Amino acid sequence: MNGVIFVIFGASGDLAIRKLIPAIFELHQGKYLPENFAVLGISRSKYSDDEFRKKVFYDSEFIEMDKKAKKEHKDFADKLSYIPIQTSETKDYAKVKKALAKLDKQFEIGGNYIFYLSTPPFLYTTIPACLAAHDLNEEKDGWRRLVVEKPFGYDLETAEALNKDLQTHFDENQIYRIDHYLGKETVQNLLVTRFANGIFEPLWNRNYIEHVQITNAENLTVGNRGGYYDKSGALRDMFQNHLMQIVAHVAMEPPISAEANAIRNEKLKLLQSIRPIKESDVPKQVIRGQYTPATIDGKKVKGYRQEEGVPDDSKTATFIAVKFFIDNWRWAGVPFYVRSGKALPTKVTEVVITFKDPPHALFRKEDMVYNDNNQLIIRIQPNEGLLLKFGMKVPGAGFEVKDVGMDFQYSDLTNVHVPAAYERLLLDVIKGDATLYARGDSVEESWRFVEPILNAWENNPKIKVYGYPAGTWGPAVASKLIESDDVTWRNPCSELTTGDNFSELS
Ligand code: BG6
Repeated sequence: MNGVIFVIFGASGDLAIRKLIPAIFELHQGKYLPENFAVLGISRSKYSDDEFRKKVFYDSEFIEMDKKAKKEHKDFADKLSYIPIQTSETKDYAKVKKALAKLDKQFEIGGNYIFYLSTPPFLYTTIPACLAAHDLNEEKDGWRRLVVEKPFGYDLETAEALNKDLQTHFDENQIYRIDHYLGKETVQNLLVTRFANGIFEPLWNRNYIEHVQITNAENLTVGNRGGYYDKSGALRDMFQNHLMQIVAHVAMEPPISAEANAIRNEKLKLLQSIRPIKESDVPKQVIRGQYTPATIDGKKVKGYRQEEGVPDDSKTATFIAVKFFIDNWRWAGVPFYVRSGKALPTKVTEVVITFKDPPHALFRKEDMVYNDNNQLIIRIQPNEGLLLKFGMKVPGAGFEVKDVGMDFQYSDLTNVHVPAAYERLLLDVIKGDATLYARGDSVEESWRFVEPILNAWENNPKIKVYGYPAGTWGPAVASKLIESDDVTWRNPCSELTTGDNFSELS
């Protein structure tokens, strides 16, 4: 593997400290990185190299250090360096160029640089332009890759403008848009579950599937991120990116190969087939909610409007549930229900495929301790795994049928270190593998779907924001989205089990 320099803009910020430096350290420890690598931190704050090393590495609460490995730590720390610049000043990038040339020589890198924009989004167009002004985008003596963090725009128009700006200075194949959900092993495993097995795919369509649910729950509240979150909300923060990507993995057609563009082409096609929700249908198909104060385990939890940085009359959704259809041969008529929220009872992300009833009911309904519908539950996090729910006869007279489960826990597969999403994604960008990165066109496509919902909320203030007490499964009205007689949302607990728990909280 050739050498590489990670150039992190916004290097003294939260993301760099919590995720990026720890991920680079883990990759280094696991010997996944090339021997000749270096990290150049850049931001406005004035640190010396040593102060930077202390802040992001030695004093980091996000890095576990083996006290005996002092020499290895020093070797790693020596590869970290830092320069302060005014990030929006083109002339300051001469310093960046000089620092890169020095590091390149010192560590024999060979001209391969990753520019990681871990900055506020307003700098996403400035930094690439400034890099280009100093030819740092040109791949003359090595490769140059640009990694951009979400948000990729604020709506369709700004997303298109951002893509255009990025593509002015870098080719699309140099741009890596991070959606950390794509780095999660279990999201990738959705493709393996579907396309490496002969038993699921024949059933994976409108003939056998009644509906699909995706739940993404977080038990944390917005906390001190109120200022950011209030401008974003669940639709922009989670749905437009992470959840649409999961939908694409669940519903896309088989790609012709596992190559990046083959997969990304199918995902794009899928996103293009989602039926747009008309503004006038938004109240029927989209439920928005906001958590209200509650007492959980004896502790008082603030409501969203009481959080720091959130206006008293905010309408920002901390919960959304969306019902939509995919207009293609595979999915015609199959409803998809997707919900996401903060301050819910637990942290869990799950895909539930609910299969249709058997065509003829042989056993009496009242003998069923079971809801008839087989379900395949794909647990994205935590306690990752897969669970198939089906009915079995209870021993004894008659035909009492009970719900049972057959499960696979991801942890049984291996005891090797499962890389965190950022580790996997950083490694892929070094290899030049963009499979797990979002392509510009699909980012725009998912904004295209989300936009009428945003417009409806903007244009029609009468659309309700339903309150839900923190620690519950969101507004009760969300269950009305699922009209099926005997199936509703599966409210999972953190363990992967057949039971629908927490009903007492909803
Ligand atoms: C981020 C959102 O993209 O994803 C956060 O901005 C959210 O609001 C986080 O908490 C959830 O990620 P994970 O990996 O913990 O599910």
